[in-house]
Amino acid sequence: MRKKVLWALGLVALALGLASCAPHATQDTLKAEGPYAQQIKTLFVPVFWIATAVFVLVEGGIVFICVKWRHRKGVNRTPPQTHGNTRLEIAWTIAPALILAVVMVPTIATIWSLAKPPPAGALNITVQGHQWWWGFQYTDADMKTTYGTNTPITTADVMVIPAGRTVYLSLASAGGALNGGVAGPNPDFAVIHSFWIPELAGKQDVVPGRTNHILIQADNPGTYYGQCAEFCGLQHGKMKVRVVALSPTDWSAWVANQKLPSATSTDPLAVQGMDTFLNPLSGGRGSCIACHSIGGTAAAGTAGPNLTHFADPTHSCFAGCDWNTSDTAALQAWLRDPNAVKLGSKMPNYHLSPDEINALVAYLQSLK
Ligand code: CUA
Repeated sequence: MRKKVLWALGLVALALGLASCAPHATQDTLKAEGPYAQQIKTLFVPVFWIATAVFVLVEGGIVFICVKWRHRKGVNRTPPQTHGNTRLEIAWTIAPALILAVVMVPTIATIWSLAKPPPAGALNITVQGHQWWWGFQYTDADMKTTYGTNTPITTADVMVIPAGRTVYLSLASAGGALNGGVAGPNPDFAVIHSFWIPELAGKQDVVPGRTNHILIQADNPGTYYGQCAEFCGLQHGKMKVRVVALSPTDWSAWVANQKLPSATSTDPLAVQGMDTFLNPLSGGRGSCIACHSIGGTAAAGTAGPNLTHFADPTHSCFAGCDWNTSDTAALQAWLRDPNAVKLGSKMPNYHLSPDEINALVAYLQSLK
């Protein structure tokens, strides 16, 4: 019986161990892709080995004692009983204190270093946590759009950054006030999130009513995956995010395009979709523009994701990065009934007809 339990425990441990072997894991803190993630890794590795040595010594001692003085059948012996050993007690009080003091020095140095003000030339982005998607605003003076009231470039779900340049994030939960005069749209949805791109930086809490900061940087162009790391409601697990780092040339092109309104499509279906999007839906069903913005049109809602460049190649995913923007079937399913695919979504079911859905999808996929 006892052997069976040991075997079962061993198999569970093996399964857990093997489950951690993912050669192409996308959210790996040990695969630092920028200087801030590297600082954390540089601290983590020695602390890990010190903790491992302590674990092996303590657990090894316990196992040794348990085996050596275990109860044996037919042998009724009691080991010599001792009480108190001043030298030993002083030693095992001082040793952990010394180990902790040694670990404390690089830990505090790293915390201070990561909390430093941003270096000159850092890009400023505000991050808003919504239920359940991330919104980004580029608040620097040279990142304003050329249309309307020249609002900052705004994206949802995917944050685009220049590779090799430090980005200073100001994070707040929707509903909370944000530096730079950008307020959260709905205080009812004010919950705590945590922004985490494991390959680029540590976690940072996103709290209603206050602004937190974190520095991130990607050394090389690429896509870096992350997700919300603080339970924030029903779909917390589907509050993902991507960071796309671009080369200097691609970055300049991206910024130039983001400053412009999306080009108006001449495709008849897309034009029909634009009409559906911008006008109240028939039968008093509501309207898309109550919550969404599309630069250069009358759509200026802020409760939902900004859709201005929905079909830009960098904008690969939508609705908490659960679906790809190029996935027409997923877009159709989402428009048919958001709550059927993501229970609890704040986007209501507008009872759109198949024709309206097809037209809206054509319009969204034309927003380059
Ligand atoms: Cu947002 Cu969990």
